[in-house]
Parts: sequence; structure tokens; C-alpha cells
Amino acid sequence: MHTKMPATGKPWNELKAAMIERGSGDAKWREGKTAVYVFNAGEDVAAVQKEAYTLYMSENGLGPMAFPSLKQMEDEVIGMGLSLLHAPEGARGTMTSGGTDSITMAVKTARDFARAERGVTGQPNLVAPFSAHPAFDKAAALMELEVRRIPVGDDLLADAAAMAAAVDDNTIMLVGSAPSFPYGLIDNIGALSDVAVERKLWLHVDACVGGYIAPFVRMNGGDVPPFDFELPGVQSMSADLHKYGYCAKGASTVLYRSEALHQYMVFDSENWPGGRMVTPTLAGTRPGGAISAAWAVMNFLGVEGYRGKHKLVTDAREKIELGVKKLGFEVLGQPQLGIVAFSHPTADVFAVYRQMYRKGWFASLTTQPKALHLMLSPYHNEVTETYLADLAVALEASAADKKDEKFEARYS
Ligand SMILES: Cc1ncc(COP(=O)(O)O)c(C=O)c1O
Repeated sequence: MHTKMPATGKPWNELKAAMIERGSGDAKWREGKTAVYVFNAGEDVAAVQKEAYTLYMSENGLGPMAFPSLKQMEDEVIGMGLSLLHAPEGARGTMTSGGTDSITMAVKTARDFARAERGVTGQPNLVAPFSAHPAFDKAAALMELEVRRIPVGDDLLADAAAMAAAVDDNTIMLVGSAPSFPYGLIDNIGALSDVAVERKLWLHVDACVGGYIAPFVRMNGGDVPPFDFELPGVQSMSADLHKYGYCAKGASTVLYRSEALHQYMVFDSENWPGGRMVTPTLAGTRPGGAISAAWAVMNFLGVEGYRGKHKLVTDAREKIELGVKKLGFEVLGQPQLGIVAFSHPTADVFAVYRQMYRKGWFASLTTQPKALHLMLSPYHNEVTETYLADLAVALEASAADKKDEKFEARYS
């Protein structure tokens, strides 16, 4: 049965109370017990996000002539992204609704570029590491492209040589992640860039997770390898503001080495009675609030603010790494940013996960290898001890934990 619209409206205070009640069963992210989907950068950032979002909530990024304010804010957000990621003079970018949107637009742009400038006429393909985000497969499915997923090396990083071997004349894009979501590790983008330069290929770096944290971790002294436009093979990047940029949801950036490449993204049409319509991304209407909130948070935090917030993330990750190792877990690779995944030589980590879930923790798992996975926020620095204490108990109890079809179905 479908829900029917009420015949008459209800007062807002009643609706608000009902909404808050509905949320009572949701993941407890405000208590720091959720390490996926949300980024809790603290009350100060949340307040700026909310107020800045509502200031431009009704305005529309589709109309730069009507709302030059939004255009100016978007240009400044893109400028900050490009300069953080070592883009050369003349580089261009656009804000999108999220990582999947940015990746889809980059794939479309690379395809159109390959057709126009490299004479690719057969079925185009993308060559990506097994660890790349499914957004590439979604984009490829939409555009009827082939995705060649290549196994990662023993170090869980993209295998540049194996990827090079999978390339043919119809390859429109090589993909690397900075970092990959499952392992939280930055691929060897330098090696991928070398392949791209040698074979004249388009390398896209998916920095949806890392784009707005890795530069600051490096400033804080972290050992972050080159992963951005400073490498000559990198033609485009996706970097999400609504992840480690701590901006309101619905905000990402897709960036190109030059305006000439960016032009292949823009859709320009007048084959209808409404006149010419030029849209840079898939969206028509673009929520003004996502743009204004991003602009406000970036200016509110500045370099100093981001360095401080990200230091809390890497501190939390280091404490968790130490703690889980003491419990006998093995950390996958050497994470440098805010994601950490860890397996166990004997325990069933899915059973550990179920135990943690019952204690109110909500995070992710990886399947190859089977591991627990955390995407940490600044707030997690306050709850690492509770997490580790609960994990110790969960590990103990996991031996007696029964299989649960719901979890197995999702992660089998
Ligand atoms: C590495 C990576 N790329 C892309 C995405 C897709 O981003 P979104 O969920 O904003 O579409 C994610 C999401 O977690 C990601 O981790």
C-alpha cells in the first residue's frame, strides 16, 4: 500500500517531533559510533554548514546570470581545490553533487575526448584496479563502456604493469585511487602517470576520499606520495567536499588539467523551444546550498583549520592501529589518511562486526581480504578508547557468534 498524502496539513512542530523520533533508530553518528557515511567534524563546522546552506537553499546554480553570487562562490571553491592539488595555470573544474557524479562526468569527458582527439571508434574501455569505486562501473554501464578491473598487487595497490598490459587502442582512461575506499591506501599514482605519459593515456585520479585531506596530512608531516596534478599523466581528478572537506552533503569537485579538456564535459543544446541551455554536469538544477555551504566551510576552516581537524583524524587512526594490533589484528598496508582496515589471522571478522553492531557501532567491512573497515572523522579521536574496549569484548564474543544471513548476503 502506498502512503497517501494527508488531506490537511499538520503543524511543523508535530512533524519535527515525528522526524526526530524516526531518527532515534538510526546509526549513532553524533556519539562517534559511526565510521562510514558521515563525517563529524564538530559543532563549529556543523553550525557553519547549516547556516550557510540555508542562506542559499532556494537559489539555483543552474542560473549563473541570475545568481552571480553562487557562480563566484563555485569559482572560488574550484580555485581552492585546483591550487591544493597542484593544478597548472589554465586548469578548470566544476562542482558536482558527489563522487559518483564527478566520476561519471570525468568518464564522459575522457570518452568524448578520445573520440574527438584520438579517433577511438570501437567500444571504449576503462582500465582500473580491482579496488576502484563502483562509480566507474555505474558510469560505464550508463555509457555502455567496458571496465577492465585488474587485480591489485600483494601490497593492495594498483598494479601499474598489469594495468599497462590490459590497455589497448580503445582504452579511454586509466584509473588510480587516492586512496581506494576498501583499503584506504593511496595507489602508486607516480607509476600510473608514467604509463599514461608513455602510452598517451588519460589518467583519472579518484581522490574522492583523499582530495581534501591528503594535502593537509602532508603539511602536517605525513608521508603522502605524489598523487595529484603535479604528476604529468594526471588529466582529471574527482575530490569530494562532502567527505574530508567537511562540507554539507551534495558537494564534490571534478577537476581537469586544462580548459580544453574541461570543454568536453559541458553540454550545450538548443534543440527545443526553450532556447540555448549550457550545463556543465548531468544536473540541471544545482542546489545553491551545497555550493554556499562548501564555500563557507572552506573559508571558515582555512588551511590552519583543516590541518587541525585532520590531525585529529590521523591521531585517531594511529591510536586505533596500535590498539587493534595489540588485539592481534593485522592492519592492511600502511594507511596515511583517515581510513584503516584490519583483518584477523584466526577470528571471523564478520562475527566481530556483528558484535560491534549490537553495541551500536556502524562501520564497513571488506571482502578481499575479509577485514573490518573504519572511515574516521575528527570526533572519533574522542572515542578511540571506547572503540578499542568494545572491540576487545567483541573479539572475545565472536567465537560464539552465529552467522547472520543479512550480513552474509551483503558481504558474500
Ligand atoms: C574512493 C571513492 N570514490 C568515489 C566515491 C563515491 O562518492 P559518492 O558516494 O559521493 O557518490 C566514494 C564513496 O565513498 C569513494 O570512497
